[in-house]
Amino acid sequence: MMMTAAVPVVVAAIMGRALWFQHISTSTNSPTASVKAAAPLNTLHSRMSLLWGVLSQVLSWANLCQLLQMVGAGLVAVAVVWMVRLLLRHTWYTYKLSCFSKPHADSWLIGHLGQMQSTEEGLLQVDNLVQTHKHSCSWFLGPFYHLVRVFHPDFVKPLLMAPASITVKDDLIYAHLRPWLGQSLLISNGEEWSRRRRLLNPAFHFDVLKNYVTMFNTSANIMHDKWRHLVAEGLTTIEMFDHVSLMTLDSLLKCAFSYNSNCQESTSDYVSAIVELSDLVIDRRHNILHHWDWIYWKTQQGRRFKKALSIVHRFTREVIQKHRAVISQQMKTETQSDFTTTPQKKKDFADIILLSKDEDGKGLTDEEILAEANTFMFAGHDTTASAICWILYNLACHAHYQEKCREEVVDLMQGRDEHKIEWEDLCNLPFTTMCIRESLRLHSPVQAVTRKYTQDVALPGGRTVPQGAICLVSLYGTHHNPAVWTNPHEFNPMRFDPTNKEARASHAFIPFSSGPRNCIGQKFALAELRVVVALTLLRFRLTPGVNPGTCQGGVRRLPLLVLRAEGGLWLQLETLNTTSLEDPQD
Ligand code: HEM
Repeated sequence: MMMTAAVPVVVAAIMGRALWFQHISTSTNSPTASVKAAAPLNTLHSRMSLLWGVLSQVLSWANLCQLLQMVGAGLVAVAVVWMVRLLLRHTWYTYKLSCFSKPHADSWLIGHLGQMQSTEEGLLQVDNLVQTHKHSCSWFLGPFYHLVRVFHPDFVKPLLMAPASITVKDDLIYAHLRPWLGQSLLISNGEEWSRRRRLLNPAFHFDVLKNYVTMFNTSANIMHDKWRHLVAEGLTTIEMFDHVSLMTLDSLLKCAFSYNSNCQESTSDYVSAIVELSDLVIDRRHNILHHWDWIYWKTQQGRRFKKALSIVHRFTREVIQKHRAVISQQMKTETQSDFTTTPQKKKDFADIILLSKDEDGKGLTDEEILAEANTFMFAGHDTTASAICWILYNLACHAHYQEKCREEVVDLMQGRDEHKIEWEDLCNLPFTTMCIRESLRLHSPVQAVTRKYTQDVALPGGRTVPQGAICLVSLYGTHHNPAVWTNPHEFNPMRFDPTNKEARASHAFIPFSSGPRNCIGQKFALAELRVVVALTLLRFRLTPGVNPGTCQGGVRRLPLLVLRAEGGLWLQLETLNTTSLEDPQD
């Protein structure tokens, strides 16, 4: 009642102010203004009366209660419809996935929610799953997500080799990357994806990759100089991820944008923002409430994400704009065909994607280029850093393999004035490459990829993945499946001896995934891995280290966006006396 009584007073006050304001403003314009103002005043008055009529109807206590009741009933109806749909969908998928064995679930509704852990125990749980279920199983996270988990080459193959036209990157893993990466190659689907892939493939051609080997050498040299100084100061145990991640970011910035960030020597806002975004994406994935945008953007993490995002996007946009300006300047002085085809021109990723054109002569828009540049940085730096760290760790744990690799590199460098790995050297490191492959199997940087399909996909044994179900292809599970690999937890580079190749199923080793949506950057990554590992072994002897914070040895794996180690991966370094071979400028 008090409210209905107060409303006329407020409205009257507003009307009074409006009339007074109208009067003042019109009367100051001319002497006859008050006469002219009479008509509009009348109109205003009648409008305000109408408004008041409506308001008093709406705001009368009885009507307000009725309105609230209607809204409440509407909301309940929507919630009921949503829940019924969810349960029907859940029942349908439970039935459709009954052809797959199902590990113990907490209840028919909760399913396996909360059972997946991004910890060492989570990985051990996958080992058990693989032991028990051999090739695949079904899995559901409440009534929300229905998964088929596969970890055997015969099951992996039909899924990864399915045509890109029926393959969809699902929201479970990729949705949270969208604000950062946009509708880029990694996330897009169908025709949009295939156009982008065609336009971006030239950026990873051998002729282009050759130019990057110099950047890999330079970035590795900077990291090794830092290590030498630390060792000289008595700090011989070093956390690998801190150093190697900065090194891969440094080299990727040089290759992608010809940008010298000096991020290995001093802090960079851009680099810190990339690291922050990677951490926040993982955080968000683990908190199911944060999966809803309208909740997430209001949280503290959501606000941090937005802040880091604006730094990253501003940086990429500026770099791309500068490249565009340079290219158009260069094209003024020579014909475009000269510019795009001259092989000796050192082009970076940004140049190539700015210049690429489809069959209709159309290139990527600025937004598309921005998305791809961000994607290269995201997909390229952490993965490669994780791979390098685990390779060095595995070699540290296996001194005899480390020595064998070192001998190979020392032989290669014989008679050279400087320690530089050239593009042509990469195929002359066969044993080192076997160790790299074995490490990618044992400690695959990416643990799993997920897919959905727009039609049913047939799997061995008469099983079918129904359209719309999420397929979680476990790279980790496949690489540790005892039905595929003997002693799967043992580091044994001889598995990759070329003479053993026939014994292996075609999809047993898939660190870069496989099929149409495989990793576009794998040749780039393999080249960088070989350069960095070879130079490291030439300059340092590695042994497993002890975390100085906890004084504990032993490593607990941490499967986040890429495979890391809890508390870091600590290695002990001994500088080798190879200075006679070193370039004094290094
Ligand atoms: C050791 C290093 C790397 C590993 C282990 C790795 C692994 C993978 C995997 C498993 C996928 C499939 C992802 C999925 O299906 O969801 C993928 C896709 C992709 N990777 Fe890599 N990657 C590495 C390095 C790189 C580098 C250096 C770049 C770029 C500079 C890159 C760019 C991409 C892109 C753009 C895709 C999406 C391809 C598509 O969907 O067409 N990756 N990578």
